[in-house]
Amino acid sequence: LAESGEKLWLRYLPLDNAKVVDYTNAIRSLVVAGDDAVISAAAEEIQMAFNGLTGNDLRNVNRPGAGALLIGTPENRLIRDLELSSELEKCGEEGYIIRTFPVRNGQMTVIAANTSAGVLYGTFDLIRRMQTGESISKLEVNESPAFKIRVLNHWDNLNGTVERGYAGHSIWFNRPEDWSVRSAQYKYYARANASVGINGTVINNVNADPNVLTAEYIEKYARIADIFRPYNMKIYMSVNFASPAVIGGLENSDPFNPAVQQWWKDKAAEIYQSIPDFGGFLVKANSEGQPGPMDYGRTHKDGANMMAKALQPHNGIVMWRAFVYEPGDDERSVQAYNEFMPFDGEFEDNVIVQVKNGPVDFMPRESFSPLFGGMQKSPVMIEFQITQEYLGHSNHLAYLSTMWKEVLDAETFAKGVGSSVAKTTDGTLFNHELTAISAVSNIGRDINWTGHHFGQSNWYAFGRLAWDYDLLSEDIAEEWVKMTFVHDQKFVEPVVDIMMRSREAVVNYMNPLGLHHIMGWDHHFGPEPWTDIPGAREDWLPRYYHNASEFGIGFDRTTNGSNLVSQYHSPLNKIYNDPLLVPENLLLWFHHLPWNYRLQNGLKLWDAMVYKYYEGVEEARLFQNRWDRLEGYIDDRRFKEIQYKLKLQTTEAIWWRDACVLYFQTYSNLPIPAELERPV
Ligand code: GCU
Repeated sequence: LAESGEKLWLRYLPLDNAKVVDYTNAIRSLVVAGDDAVISAAAEEIQMAFNGLTGNDLRNVNRPGAGALLIGTPENRLIRDLELSSELEKCGEEGYIIRTFPVRNGQMTVIAANTSAGVLYGTFDLIRRMQTGESISKLEVNESPAFKIRVLNHWDNLNGTVERGYAGHSIWFNRPEDWSVRSAQYKYYARANASVGINGTVINNVNADPNVLTAEYIEKYARIADIFRPYNMKIYMSVNFASPAVIGGLENSDPFNPAVQQWWKDKAAEIYQSIPDFGGFLVKANSEGQPGPMDYGRTHKDGANMMAKALQPHNGIVMWRAFVYEPGDDERSVQAYNEFMPFDGEFEDNVIVQVKNGPVDFMPRESFSPLFGGMQKSPVMIEFQITQEYLGHSNHLAYLSTMWKEVLDAETFAKGVGSSVAKTTDGTLFNHELTAISAVSNIGRDINWTGHHFGQSNWYAFGRLAWDYDLLSEDIAEEWVKMTFVHDQKFVEPVVDIMMRSREAVVNYMNPLGLHHIMGWDHHFGPEPWTDIPGAREDWLPRYYHNASEFGIGFDRTTNGSNLVSQYHSPLNKIYNDPLLVPENLLLWFHHLPWNYRLQNGLKLWDAMVYKYYEGVEEARLFQNRWDRLEGYIDDRRFKEIQYKLKLQTTEAIWWRDACVLYFQTYSNLPIPAELERPV
C-alpha cells in the first residue's frame, strides 16, 4: 500500500508548517475513554493521521487537560462528567459531537458519541478537517447520518470476475495472495469506508451463485467480517432464490413449502453462528433470468417475507430489489412500479425494497423512479451505481455526486412541496425505522482501486452523501481533491471545476436531451444506436429506446405512449406529459418529437441535439487542456495516468458524437449546423 494511488484519500502526508503549529497547539495528547475494538481503531487512526500530518505523536494519557483530545462514550466517567447527555440524545446510534472545552491552562477537544461507532466517525471527521486544512481550534460539531444503513454493493463473482467492473478482478474472490496480503487490503478498505461513514457492504454479485451459502463461503465471509468489525462495517450477502433446491437438495424453492422455509431458517442460524453481526441478504429475484418466487406462482412479497422471517431472530434484514422487467405488455420503465405497488405495506418490518435511481437502468440521465414517493407504507432504499457501466467505464472522468444529488433532491410531490426523493427514503416523510442507501461499487484489484484515479472520488462522494445528502457536490469534490492530491488552490480550483462539469459533459456527448440506452450491445461500451440483432430481446436494443425515423426521435412515455408519466404525483405527471413543460434534459426520455420541433430556446430539435453532442466533446477537450497545464502540482505517475485517460476520454467523446450524429442524420436528412461543420 505504499503507492499514492492505493492510499486513496487517507494519505496523511505532512501539512505545511503553519497548520502543523495550529494543530499541535490544539492537540498534543490523547485520552481514550473506552477499550473496545472500535474505539481502539479510532485511537489507532488518529495517532496515525496526526503523526503523518504533523510529524508529531499524540501522547497517550489517562487524564484530560490542556491540549488533550478526549474520545469516548458516556459509558465512561470522563465523558459523563462533561454533561453532554441532551446533545448526545440527538446523535442517535452513530452520530457524534465534537467540542472544544476550556480547561485550566488552555483547552481540550472532545469527540463524544453514544456508541464507539459514533466515536469512530467523529474521529474521521476531525481527521478530515486536518487533512483539508480547516481550523480545529473552536469546534462545535453535531452530526448524525441521514440513513441508518449505508452500503456498497459489489457485483463480484465467486470466480473472481466482476460484473460491470472496470478496475480489474475481485478483491474478494479467487485470489492467489496470502491472507496477510489480502487482510491488509481489507483493513484499508474498511478504513476508507469508515472514513466516509459507509457501514456495510455486500461483497458478491446480485446475480448470485448459490454456492455462496455453502460452509466454505460462510467461513470466508466470517474472516472478512472479523476485519470489518472494528470499523463498524457489517457484511451482507447476495443470495440466489433457488438455493434450497440447488445446494440444499430440496425438491423446489417454493416459499410456501415448509421445508424451504426451514432451510432458510437453518441457513440463517448457521451464518449467525459464524458472523453474529451479519447484516442480511440482498436479493435479485425474477429479474433478467434470475429465479424467484414467481417461478412457483408466488409473489415478491411472499419471497421477501419468507427470507425476512428467517433473519428476524438474528436482527438481519432483506434488501429486496425492484429492478425487474420482463418482455411483455408493459414497457420496461413502468414495470417495477406496477409489480411492486400492490405490495406496499405488506412486507415484513425487516424488508426494504431496493430501487435503482431511475426506472430503466443507471443511464447517464433518467427521470427518478416513481417508486420513490409512490411506495409509502413499506420502506424503500435507493440504489446508485458508482461503477460507470453507462458512463465510459473507467476511461472517463465523470464525477457522479452531481448526478446523485440531482436524484436525491428531485421533488416527488408525494406529500406536496418538500417531498424530495431523499426525504421519501430517509424516514422523514413516511416515518420508517429502517432506512438505507446503496451503490454499486467500482472497486477492483487495480493498483489505484477504481481503474481511473477520479473513480475514487465517486466512492468517496457516495459515502459523504449517504451520511449527509445536503452536502454540496463542490465541497465534497474539494475535500477529496485536497485529501487525495494537494491543497494548492491553483490545482484545486480547476480540478474541482472539471469534476463539477464532467457528468453533464458525458451526458452531452453520449445521451443528450434525454436520449438513453444507445450504447454498445452487451458490453455497454461506446455508441451503437444502430445495433440490430435478429431474435434479440426487443427491449435490449437501442432502436427500441431512440425510435429514430424520418419523422423524429425519442421515447413516448406520455399518456399517448407507455404512460410512465401517470406513475408520478401531480403536478409532475402533467409537467412530464407536456413537451413544453418537461425539463429539456428529459425531453426525449418522455417524448417522441419531429426533427424540426422547436425547443423553448428556439432551436430546432435536430440542431439542438447536434449542438449538445458538440458541446460534450468541447468540454472533454477543455478538461484535457486544463489538466495539461497542471503538470508539476502532483506526482508524475498519477499526473500522467490521468492525462492519458483524459486523452482517451476526448477520443471516445468524438467517437460517440460522430457515431450518433451521423447515424441519426441518416433519418433526419438535415445538415449539421454550418458553424459546427468540420472534418471529423
Ligand atoms: C444491468 C447490468 C447487469 C446487472 C443488472 C442488475 O442490467 O447490465 O449486469 O446484473 O443491471 O442490476 O441486476
